Amino acid sequence: KLVRKRGGSQNMEQINEYICRYKNYNFATGLTTAEYIDSLQNFQIRDSDIFLVTYPKSGTIWTQQIIISICEVSGGLNEYPNNLEQMPWLEYTEGRPDYTLRPSPRLFASHLSTALMPPGLKDKKAKIIYVMRNPKDNAVSYYHFSKTFSGLELPKSFEAFLEQYLSGNVAGSSWFDHVKDWHSKKDQYNILFLTYEDMILDLKAAVTKICGFLGKNLSEEAIEQVVEKCTFKTMKKDPKANYKFLPQEKMSGDFMRKGQIGDWKNMLSAAQSERVDQILQQKLGDLSLKLIWE
Ligand code: A3P
Repeated sequence: KLVRKRGGSQNMEQINEYICRYKNYNFATGLTTAEYIDSLQNFQIRDSDIFLVTYPKSGTIWTQQIIISICEVSGGLNEYPNNLEQMPWLEYTEGRPDYTLRPSPRLFASHLSTALMPPGLKDKKAKIIYVMRNPKDNAVSYYHFSKTFSGLELPKSFEAFLEQYLSGNVAGSSWFDHVKDWHSKKDQYNILFLTYEDMILDLKAAVTKICGFLGKNLSEEAIEQVVEKCTFKTMKKDPKANYKFLPQEKMSGDFMRKGQIGDWKNMLSAAQSERVDQILQQKLGDLSLKLIWE
């Protein structure tokens, strides 16, 4: 029953039926327009804005739930029917409200590259949380997601998908470019870098770190409360958090799939794994990234 979206977006270069390129970045077709992406250059940032930036399938909805829960327990957050409306995608136009009318603090999620983000973020007042996930688990998660989400091309095989992923011919472009872009420009922003793996290994520590960055002084009890709301198990049952509210023809599977480190071992051959290692070394070798594989 999944109806896959195809077609073009005006003023964007059509890469294939599912991807449009604009300003060196690949968008899933039909979610936004060149004009809207350009308009972000005039987007008025507030000091209180909080942005969550990720490459797709790096733990976005998880971190979304963490940030929302922290802001909720510390008070003063307007209520919205679900996390998507509470922390909307900056770059998508569908159902987009007028953000100038939103009470502060405004929360946004984004997969964009630095060049497409509102320049006001460089005033270093608004906060950005960037979450990175190791590219092998990321590719596996992206592969499974592509099978269940209507906005993406149905992969012919894992092998074929991995090729597209490694060459950046997927929505969100290249994982390597995204991580490099944000990591190498991090001093230009007020940014907290986290990894999906650190969040898995110690969720409470991650929540505490995010609280510190957001300037929220939560009691031990409140932190425990946030942690409880953000476990995989709780989120799977939480209709506001797990995107089950999306219509069936858009998404046939589950955002909450496995939620583990190391699932790549079930999918990547030794040769494929080595290939990722090589590209990683070649493209990001100089960044001294701390990646956790299992
Ligand atoms: P898997 O497909 O490996 O299970 P995004 O939100 O960026 O699309 O990322 C989705 C990935 O984050 C999925 O990975 C999903 O299961 C995982 N995820 C979501 N919530 C999680 C949680 N509370 N704990 C661990 N992983 C979570």
